[in-house]
Amino acid sequence: MPLSPPSDDETPRPPSCQRPQALIHPPPPGIGREITRQLLLRPTTTVVATVRNPADPTAASLPALPTGPDSTLVLVQLAEPADYAALAPTLAARGITTIDVAVANAGAATGFHTVLTTTPDDAAADMAVNAAAPLRLFQTVWPLLRPASGGGGKMVFMSSSLGSIAGLDEESLTGVGYGMGKAALNFLAKKIAVDLKGEGVVVGILHPGYVVTPATKLIFRGSGGTWMVVC
Ligand SMILES: NC(=O)c1ccc[n+]([C@@H]2O[C@H](COP(=O)([O-])OP(=O)(O)OC[C@H]3O[C@@H](n4cnc5c(N)ncnc54)[C@H](OP(=O)(O)O)[C@@H]3O)[C@@H](O)[C@H]2O)c1
Repeated sequence: MPLSPPSDDETPRPPSCQRPQALIHPPPPGIGREITRQLLLRPTTTVVATVRNPADPTAASLPALPTGPDSTLVLVQLAEPADYAALAPTLAARGITTIDVAVANAGAATGFHTVLTTTPDDAAADMAVNAAAPLRLFQTVWPLLRPASGGGGKMVFMSSSLGSIAGLDEESLTGVGYGMGKAALNFLAKKIAVDLKGEGVVVGILHPGYVVTPATKLIFRGSGGTWMVVC
C-alpha cells in the first residue's frame, strides 16, 4: 500500500506500523546522529563522525554525547575533495589505522517530484549525493577497511526502499531523482560485494524504515517533529 502524505493533524505512519513503538521528544535531528549516539554508548569504542560543517548545531552537539567506558568520539570535517584525501592521515595522527565498520549515511533529495516534473539537473544532484558521494567515501575508507591493513571490515550503505526497482509495484511515491540515486547506490553496494569478493570485505545495504527526521519532515508536513517511529 502506498504511504500517503498526512494531513496537518496526523502523525505519519508507515503502512506496516499500527502505532509508534518509540516516542522520542525532542526528536533526534537525524539517523546519523542517532547511530553515533548509540555506538558511543558502547564500551571501548572509537566513533569517527564525519561532518560537512563542524559549526553546524547538530555537528557541534556531538562532542557532548554521553560515552561508554573508554569510548571516544573523533569529529572530522569531510566536505571538499581535499578533506577526503586528508582523512587517512588525519585518522592516523589520532592513532586510527583501521576501521571495523564504515557507514555511508548521508543522503538527500532535491524534491519529491514525478517522472514528468523531475528536472534532469535535480536528478543529477540526487544521484551525486546518494550514489557518487558514497562511492567517493568507499574509495577513501577502503585502505582502512581491507584485510591487508588489518581491517577486514564492513561497509554499510544507508539506502531506501524508494530505490528498490522490485519494490516499485508495492510502494511508488514521488521522488524520482532520490529513487534513481538510491537504486544506483544499491547497484554500487552489490558491485563492491561482487568485484571485491576475495578481499573479505562485508557489504550491507540498509533501509531504515520510515523515521521522522529533518529530511522527512520536509516531505510530510504536519509530522509535528516529535515522533520517531520504529517498526
Ligand atoms: N528518514 C527516513 O525515513 C529515511 C528512510 C529511508 C532512507 N533514509 C536515508 O537515511 C539517511 C539519513 O537520512 P535522515 O532521514 O537522517 O536525513 P537527514 O536528517 O536530512 O540527514 C541527512 C544527512 O545527510 C547529509 N547530507 C545531506 N546532503 C548532503 C550533501 N550534499 N553532501 C553531504 N552530506 C549531505 C546531512 O549532512 P548535514 O548535517 O551537513 O546537512 C545529514 O547528515 C539518508 O541516506 C536517507 O536517504 C531515511
